[in-house]
Amino acid sequence: MEPRIINLPKIEDPRGNLSFFESPKQLPFEIERAYWIYDVPGGEIRGSHAFKEQQEFIVALSGSFDVVLHDGSQELKFSLNRSYYGLYIPKMYWRRIENFSTNALALIVSDRKFDSSDYIRNFEAFVNWKNEKI
Ligand code: TYD
Repeated sequence: MEPRIINLPKIEDPRGNLSFFESPKQLPFEIERAYWIYDVPGGEIRGSHAFKEQQEFIVALSGSFDVVLHDGSQELKFSLNRSYYGLYIPKMYWRRIENFSTNALALIVSDRKFDSSDYIRNFEAFVNWKNEKI
């Protein structure tokens, strides 16, 4: 599977808009965990790593940030700045999240419970691993 932007339903209402996702309707995996990143100081970068198995979906619930993915040969950059779409990230993509705006809130859902052994934290090891698997 490829990384892709998934547009979410947007129920427009004069009282305020509402969006949602549920699996398997909007997401290509069952949600096992949610976490969020917030209070990011200006200029900081989160998440320079890949996951061997975990898939994720990231939404900018507030503010904006860039998700930069690397597939082992090239970089792909996605700017997230609305709460009615998000980025699906398959397993085995190196990713970093950067350029956070003030008050940015990143909601991330994943198909796995937290498992530190699923992380690949060395970029060179990631590239080697990815190219071996292709
Ligand atoms: P990490 O995934 O390295 O953060 P990021 O990649 O977004 O910069 O996680 C930071 C710390 O939080 C690390 O010590 C593991 C812990 N953590 C959990 O305990 N549970 C979780 O679900 C997540 C995402 C992280």
